[in-house]
Amino acid sequence: MNHRTGDIHRYVTSLVLISLLAIVVIACDDDRAIEATDPASSEMDVGANMVGWSEGEIATLRSLWLGALQPLTPDPSNAAGDHPGAVGFGHKLFFDARFSGNGEVSCATCHQPDLNFTDGLPLAEAIGTTSRGTPTIVGTSHGPWFFWDGRRDSQWSQAMVPMESAIEHGGTRTQFTHIIDDDKGYREAYEVVFGPLPDFSDRTRFPDSAGPVDDPDALAAWESMDPQDQAAVTQVFVNIGKAIAAYECQIMPGPSRFDRYVSALLDEDESAIEAAMTEDEVAGLRLFLSRGNCTQCHNGPLLTNNGFHSAGVPDANELEPDVGRFTGVVELVGNEFSCLGIYSDADPDQCAELRFAKTDGLELLGAFKVPTLRNVAETAPYMHAGQFKTLAEVLTHYNGADPGPTGHSDLQPLGLNGEELIQLEAFLRTLSGPLNAPPELLTQP
Ligand code: HEC
Ligand code: HEC
Repeated sequence: MNHRTGDIHRYVTSLVLISLLAIVVIACDDDRAIEATDPASSEMDVGANMVGWSEGEIATLRSLWLGALQPLTPDPSNAAGDHPGAVGFGHKLFFDARFSGNGEVSCATCHQPDLNFTDGLPLAEAIGTTSRGTPTIVGTSHGPWFFWDGRRDSQWSQAMVPMESAIEHGGTRTQFTHIIDDDKGYREAYEVVFGPLPDFSDRTRFPDSAGPVDDPDALAAWESMDPQDQAAVTQVFVNIGKAIAAYECQIMPGPSRFDRYVSALLDEDESAIEAAMTEDEVAGLRLFLSRGNCTQCHNGPLLTNNGFHSAGVPDANELEPDVGRFTGVVELVGNEFSCLGIYSDADPDQCAELRFAKTDGLELLGAFKVPTLRNVAETAPYMHAGQFKTLAEVLTHYNGADPGPTGHSDLQPLGLNGEELIQLEAFLRTLSGPLNAPPELLTQP
């Protein structure tokens, strides 16, 4: 395939992706609307050359504006996603360090509310050190894929992975099940959402610590269990994931200065336009839309096209190159907890994202999920393994577009000068805003 065909191919792929996304809105219920400009007034003829923006550019700005974010609709694979009892239950689970091998690790160890649900580290650390950095969870319920390589297709199936990973929570399924079963508050919360909990009290049938994990003792204990007992435990584990997902659906980004700028433009409110962003920041926004070509991948109100691309980022560990989506998609398709698996509440025809996912091709090599840029100034270091410490380093990389370890990058060199890079960075900093979530969900319950 020559370079041009490659471009056309990618273009077609992204068109297909965009139309699929338009048809299948995967998410969970969210009735908290963003404070938005009255659409009737904002669609009126905005002065064609309003502070130098053309009508087409204003339409693009509007599409990046948080007010354009669609409300979440239920994730069909998670029937508990919009159950009122699931959010509070999931909130407790998210912060509870008992769900770990050493009693010290919770989701919030790495996804810290004060750091926009990241951890400030290049590679995540808990019981051990992972090979990737901690992405934010904020707003991620809107997307179809989870992890940098998209190896899970729901937030509930994603949550189960760190819990059983030896270097993250390092826990086991029967351990988690016993915690729910033995804690009166948890048992009641569970039963409100998922119905009666089976009797797990027989420790010979349900060992203290058993699961399909790396630890040889826990694995042997799991393999000695009756398959029906295994299935009962796995169902509880799945439901833990589904409650956590319901909680995560509540954690959304709030309006930033950029959103105030677009609101002001749509309202034609000149003093508000000037107050929202400085000249340098507006110049950076122009570069973001034009010569930076950033909206090719960072588009929509969450500034991501939900796709996978190679940005040619250097490997964090040269001995073990990270091929990203190339192997991530293989794991996704074979995973028993996918939208098409038996633990999913979806009909197969509701799993279009998974069924039509691109499963091979060299363009998947070294491709990673396009991250949101909302609150990006708060989430250093950057890229899938924290390869860049600052936004300035990220932009220097984009400017040169080195093809990186796989020799293939979806980026083109930008040729921006030093001042332009500073302006682009200044614009990225306008994307920070407070989280849009009930305040009590942002602290330990
Ligand atoms: C040791 C730190 C650590 C812990 C503990 C942890 N995570 Fe993560 N989380 C990560 C890392 C690292 C990734 C990316 C891993 C990858 O892509 O392979 C990630 C990815 C995610 C993602 C995907 C985000 C995206 O944009 O695709 C979500 C959602 C998430 N974690 C939620 C959770 C939940 C829920 C828990 C608790 C059950 C949890 N995490 C526990 C470090 C952690
Ligand atoms: C071809 C698609 C594509 C284009 C064009 C693109 N990006 Fe990205 N961006 C990505 C991907 C993919 C990643 C993650 C790469 C990785 O971790 O290996 C990323 C990561 C980032 C990050 C780091 C975010 C984080 O949380 O780690 C920033 C900042 C960023 N991009 C800004 C920009 C800016 C500014 C532009 C325009 C100059 C731009 N991007 C153009 C795909 C793209």
